[in-house]
Order: sequence, then structure tokens, then C-alpha cells
Amino acid sequence: MKSFSGFVTSGLVGAVFLATAMPALAIEKGDLIVRVGFTTVSTEESSSLVSTTVTGALNGTAVHVGNDTQPGLNLVYMHSDNIGVEVLAATPFKHDLSVSGLSQYGFSTTDLGSTKHLPPTISALYYFGPTSSPIRPYAGVGVNYTTFFSESLSTSARTELGGSRLKLDDSFGLAVRAGVDWELNDTWILNASFLRIDIDTDASFNSALGIVQAKVDIDPFVYMMSVGYKF
Ligand code: NI
Repeated sequence: MKSFSGFVTSGLVGAVFLATAMPALAIEKGDLIVRVGFTTVSTEESSSLVSTTVTGALNGTAVHVGNDTQPGLNLVYMHSDNIGVEVLAATPFKHDLSVSGLSQYGFSTTDLGSTKHLPPTISALYYFGPTSSPIRPYAGVGVNYTTFFSESLSTSARTELGGSRLKLDDSFGLAVRAGVDWELNDTWILNASFLRIDIDTDASFNSALGIVQAKVDIDPFVYMMSVGYKF
């Protein structure tokens, strides 16, 4: 059995050998990184009062938007050792929509229905630290376009409120971005990141009381855990 100091010495020698044998790690100019993982959209919504053509604004009402998690994909192209351009994409997110405050007006509806959306975002990223560092945090700003589709009203919204034709307007806004890449070797990267997106929409549908509408600021935090491959 080796002595403790002998064990430590051979361990150190091994570590030094491993370090010198490994190819140089670097995220640097010209790299293309493709990351695949899970993306959670966590809404931080605030809404105007719900209004109808007949009644005007209904005090005490609000619209709420639920969370969703989907597979996500993002691409980063390193324009220089420190500046990258990133494109974010995902499979469509589905969010439940609900309404609060209608009970005081004699309605029992709380579930409004659901909508799907895609929030493609292009960001400029600044990577901190030297290219030799295996851990590279980054931050950036971007522009987001969110398109809503497959809006559908709940049974109670259709029967009790006489609802039809739910629509959420598309949104164009800014995004802020931060994350960290951890290079496992010259090819594989672990990534954790988040994004805050300014998504504002007008939600409306037809009803027995005319057009029902509310402005909803969804403004979600988007969290991503992903595995990256560097080309
Ligand atoms: Ni907003």
C-alpha cells in the first residue's frame, strides 16, 4: 500500500499529465455552438382589467397565463473571442389562460382556455474571461418576436360567456440574456442560462357582451439547461 504522500504525488503527476494531454479548451472566434436542452417559460404576467363592449372595464378582474416547459434549441456563432450572436428556438409552448374576478359579476368561469406560442429570439452576447478558461459566463441583449396560435376557449368560456374566436396579438420586444458555458472537453459543453423577454399582447374574444378584451404583459423568465456541441 502506498504512503499518503506517495498517493498524492502520483495523483498530482497524473493530473498534470491529463492536463497537458488534453487538447486546448477554448470558446473562440469562428466557433459554432449548438445547444439542445429543456426550456421553461415562467410567466411574470400582469394584466389590465377585463373589459367588454357592453359593460366597459370590469373592476377586480385580471387574466393569468400559466407556465410551460419544452425542448429547446439554440445556436451561437462566435464573431470574435468575446462576442457571439445567438438564435433561440423551441418547439411550441402551450400556456393555460385563466381569468379571475368574474364571480362578483355572477359568472363561474375561471378557465379561459389555452394558447400556443413560439418566441424566436436573436441576441448579441458578450463572453467574459479569456478563451483559455473552461468556464465562460456571458450576458447580452436581444430582440424577440412572439407569435401566438391555436388559441382555444374553454368549454365554460364558450357556454357561460358565449365566447368565440379567442385571439392573442403577436408581440415584438426586447430580451435580456445571461448564462454560462462549461467546456467539458474540446467538443462538449454544459450550459445553464436564462432570458427575460418583454412579451405584451392584447387578448380578445367575442361574447354575448360584445368583444371581451384585456392587455396582458406576460414578460416571462425563460430558463434553459442544455448540452452543447462545438463545431
Ligand atoms: Ni412587458
